[in-house]
Amino acid sequence: MIRLPRQTLLLAAILLAGCQQEMAEQPAYRPLEASAFFPDERSARPLPPGTVPRGPLQAASALHTGRSESTSGGGNAPANMVNEYVKVVPYALTNKVLHRGQERYEIFCAVCHGLEGKGDGKIVERGYTRPPNYVIDLSRGFEHKGVRIPLRDVPIGYIFEVITKGYGAMSDYESQVPPSDRWAIAAYVRALQISQHLRLSDLPEDIGTEIRSRLEKLEASAPGKERPGVPEALAPGGTR
Ligand code: HEC
Repeated sequence: MIRLPRQTLLLAAILLAGCQQEMAEQPAYRPLEASAFFPDERSARPLPPGTVPRGPLQAASALHTGRSESTSGGGNAPANMVNEYVKVVPYALTNKVLHRGQERYEIFCAVCHGLEGKGDGKIVERGYTRPPNYVIDLSRGFEHKGVRIPLRDVPIGYIFEVITKGYGAMSDYESQVPPSDRWAIAAYVRALQISQHLRLSDLPEDIGTEIRSRLEKLEASAPGKERPGVPEALAPGGTR
C-alpha cells in the first residue's frame, strides 16, 4: 500500500469538502417546486410529444406478464395456479408469427432445448443442466408449487413468463427479446409440442383421413418397422 503523508490527506480533505459545497449550492429545483421561469410554473416538465420510452415497460398487462388480468392472486388451489395464466397469444397468431417464433427459438433457445425441444441442445452436451423435454416432461415450475402438469399442458402464458423471467438454471430473456417475439417463441414451443404429441382425432377430418391411409400403406409394405419421424401417437394403433 502507498503511504501518503498526513498533510497531503488533510489538504485533499479540505479541497474536496470545498467541491462538495459548491455542487450543493448550484441552482436546482426541489421535486415539484414552482418555477418562475416557465409560463405554466411547472418545474417538472411534461414529456415533449413523440417521446419514445427507453428500457422495458413496467406494464402489468397480459401482453407483458403472460398472466390473466381478470384473476388477481388466485390462491393455492392447483386449478387457480393454472388459471392465473393466459391460454392464448394476446394478439393475432398468423403463420408469419409462427415462422418468426421458429427463427427466434432457433437463435435463443435451441442451444439448450434442442431444435425439437427434447432438452438435448449443444450446450447441454457439454455439461449444462439438462432442461426438461417439452413434450414428455412435467413442468418443474408447477411441480415446485405442488402441481403435477406436463409442460405440453401448461397455459401458454406460463411459457411466456419463463422466457421473460427465467426459471431455475435458465436465465431471463426480457431484455434481449421484445414481448411480441417472446409470444411468437411461446407459440412455436406449443407448435413443437403439438407436432410431437397428437391424436389423429385432433386433426381436421380430411388431413386425419389422409394421414391414416398413408400410415396404413406404410404399415402394409413393411409391418412393425420403426419409422423415424413418425410421432408415436400418430403411428397405426398409437394412442396418446
Ligand atoms: C442456457 C440454456 C438455456 C437456454 C438458452 C434456454 N433455456 Fe429454457 N431451460 C433451461 C434449463 C436448464 C431449464 C430447467 C431449469 C431448472 O430446472 O432449474 C429450462 C427450463 C425451461 C422451461 C420449463 C420450465 C418448467 O416449469 O419446467 C421452459 C418452458 C423453457 N425453459 C423455455 C425456454 C425458451 C422458450 C427459451 C428461449 C427463449 C429457453 N428456454 C432458453 C436452459 C435454457
